Amino acid sequence: MKIAEKSIAEDELYSLALAVIDSINDTIAASFKNDFPEAELLQKRRLKPLLLPITECIPHISNTSESTIALVDSIKKSYQKQQWRQPYSIEDFGSDFFHKSAWFPIADVNGPLVYPDGLMEIMLMGPGLTYPKHKHEPEELYIVLSGKVWWETEKDGETPCWKKAGEAIYHAPNQVHAITSGDEPVLVLNLWRGGGFQIPKII
Ligand SMILES: [Fe+2]
Repeated sequence: MKIAEKSIAEDELYSLALAVIDSINDTIAASFKNDFPEAELLQKRRLKPLLLPITECIPHISNTSESTIALVDSIKKSYQKQQWRQPYSIEDFGSDFFHKSAWFPIADVNGPLVYPDGLMEIMLMGPGLTYPKHKHEPEELYIVLSGKVWWETEKDGETPCWKKAGEAIYHAPNQVHAITSGDEPVLVLNLWRGGGFQIPKII
């Protein structure tokens, strides 16, 4: 019974995340969405829940958008059942980043939905936090779910700029990028394709 309940939570997050991608009306987002298989086709794996101190802010998260509020509500409902991760060490980006950022997987090579060809995860950043310059081989789509981020990247005429809930950020393979959260916690839907999980290269 418990396994069935957990599967429902994962499937709900997965389908709500796909609906958020769908709300971004452009060809790149559409192609990311089309690459994700039906949830029924993905193997399920039971992960042990793991909370990190920064996740305590999740019940107070606000400033969503019409297109992201359903996913944020589902995250608020299920965040204590998720396996939150901090893939970086203090040496990578410092103590502040280490303690005030966290991720949990919806679908990836090690996720509750096993998906080896890409990644769908939720990123949490505390207020006023910089995720410094980094790059990685997989293509990436971020969709801001709540709050706003200051986006900086190379090879792009429109940055630096703010991206708020409901707006997307795209990075080509190995495009250097950085984001800084505004004055409130931020949730971001983070998608990769073209390779399983790897620790990004720090610039
Ligand atoms: Fe990235």
